[in-house]
Amino acid sequence: MPACKIGARVVSSVSSRRWDDRIRELPSANRVYASASPELASAELAVFSESVLGGALSEASLTRRGGVPYLEFTAEQLHPEAIAFLSQLSAIYALFEVDGSRLTPVELRPLGRYGDDLITIQKYPGKTNEQFTKLLLNVTLMSSAFATELGSHQLAVFDPLCGRGTTLNQALMYGCDAAGLDADQRDFDAYSAFIKTWLKRKHLKHHADYDGPVRRDGKVIGRRLQLSLAPTKEEHKAGLIQRLDVVCAETTRAADFFRPDAFDLIVTDAPYGVQHGSRTTAGLARRPQDLLSAAAPVWARLLRPGGALGISWNTLVAPREQAAAILAGAGLEPLDYGPYRQFRHRVDQAIVRDVLVARKPGRIAG
Ligand SMILES: C[S@@+](CC[C@H](N)C(=O)[O-])C[C@H]1O[C@@H](n2cnc3c(N)ncnc32)[C@H](O)[C@@H]1O
Repeated sequence: MPACKIGARVVSSVSSRRWDDRIRELPSANRVYASASPELASAELAVFSESVLGGALSEASLTRRGGVPYLEFTAEQLHPEAIAFLSQLSAIYALFEVDGSRLTPVELRPLGRYGDDLITIQKYPGKTNEQFTKLLLNVTLMSSAFATELGSHQLAVFDPLCGRGTTLNQALMYGCDAAGLDADQRDFDAYSAFIKTWLKRKHLKHHADYDGPVRRDGKVIGRRLQLSLAPTKEEHKAGLIQRLDVVCAETTRAADFFRPDAFDLIVTDAPYGVQHGSRTTAGLARRPQDLLSAAAPVWARLLRPGGALGISWNTLVAPREQAAAILAGAGLEPLDYGPYRQFRHRVDQAIVRDVLVARKPGRIAG
């Protein structure tokens, strides 16, 4: 058995079989995103490897078999827990163990508490690509102190610029509690209508805990929809519910609606500073970096110690160093090395998107 180069370290294999694994990449509906996706998937894989796989995977390389692209990596062995984590990769379609020219499929175990249509039905200008949203959530989770808790603990995810809920839907799919906030009344109304209709149509047990205006000192400060839901009647009855909490308000007012340390993860796709089709949003009134400067301290307070914030934004309107400095100024620790610097990709002529992840120092025991 040859020595196997894994990341920066060289380890010699002992009794374990050598795995040459290939991830078959998901055919993507979005051509622009698809062309960037191998590099993004490779960076995502590296973050998984570092976070929950003990650095066990080699750097991935893009290969082709029969004209089909694969991401290829080497590992000493893959335990079932490792396969469970790899099953959640945003670009994964199939995983094979490779022995010479033979490919043996490895059973994937993607988390999916609800039907895929929760994520795919909604179509609208300005929607964040679903696969990219999953990547952003994954990378943020993997950077937090709670990475290993996916699927075993009910994590709380907050999107403070949630639009029509792409992040919230992915969080629900993972079994998390999901909270979102957006200033655009049309987005709030559209998402509220969508989720209520979808739950009814699917005959999923749910309960509206609150649906209406929120008042403070006699003034309406926002609108709010709070639902509790579960995939089965039995789970709902047993109290095994997920909470969905959506607010229509200015994001710098988030602390009026949510308590400090309420969230394990904050995941958001910031306004791009350009118009999406015919859609105008509150975000266009403000430069994205000004919005981030005003909101980051508020968001940081809502994040639990050990939690992580992952943001994507348009680098053509705000350079990475500036975004990182804003997050650091809010008391977060930006992760700015290796794979974390490999998420930059072109979306269209006016948007070159990047991802920045920052941790909140400390961790509350338990
Ligand atoms: C890139 S979009 C997010 C799209 C969302 N991920 C989706 O798929 O629907 C950015 C969102 O930020 C919201 N926004 C901009 N400025 C805001 C502010 N100051 N407070 C709250 N929301 C804001 C916009 O209304 C828009 O929905």
